[in-house]
Amino acid sequence: ARSLSARIAGLLSAFPDHPEPGIVFRDLAGVYAEPGLLAELADAVAGHFGGVDRILAVEARGFLLGAAVSARTGLPLTLVRKPGKLPGPVHRVEYALEYGTDQLEVQKGAIAPGERVLCVDDVLATGGTLAAAAALVAACGARTAGMAVLVALAGLGGSERLSRHPLLVLHDVP
Ligand code: PRP
Ligand code: HPA
Repeated sequence: ARSLSARIAGLLSAFPDHPEPGIVFRDLAGVYAEPGLLAELADAVAGHFGGVDRILAVEARGFLLGAAVSARTGLPLTLVRKPGKLPGPVHRVEYALEYGTDQLEVQKGAIAPGERVLCVDDVLATGGTLAAAAALVAACGARTAGMAVLVALAGLGGSERLSRHPLLVLHDVP
């Protein structure tokens, strides 16, 4: 059987200068369109990590893998969102993107102190987004048990930035 990495590679497309000049955007639309593949990817993520209490998924595209891992494992799912979306009291962190800066929020009380949290997203670029997710986990008094992405982009320092956390990358783009 072809490896999951090879299958992802065959389904990715590259769009130069999206969303701005100089960025080569890796589009995962073909990965999500492949029948059954997202469930297989979620199982690979779930099988890699033990001792996880909760899945944390980052808006917007991280919701897809996060929901799939939660559905396949039965683990509770918590959503990290862009500012102003979540009702009630929130923890907020500011972070730098490959393009621009933004803020992320999680609802206070959504993650219990001491929980072991698996943070998931679609793409790892600079690592700013997942570092912010880990900061939100810490703000809740919980621990980041690991991080998982479908695709990591080389040369942007993402895996170095996240080196203090166990990181699963299903496909590396050179
Ligand atoms: C993209 C992607 C990751 C992040 C990766 O999200 O889905 O979350 O950037 O970049 P980083 O490693 O440099 O932080 P984006 O902020 O474009 O939001 P979206 O998912 O809502 O489209
Ligand atoms: N593709 C998809 N998402 C991203 C990228 C990319 O190239 N860079 C940062 N987020």
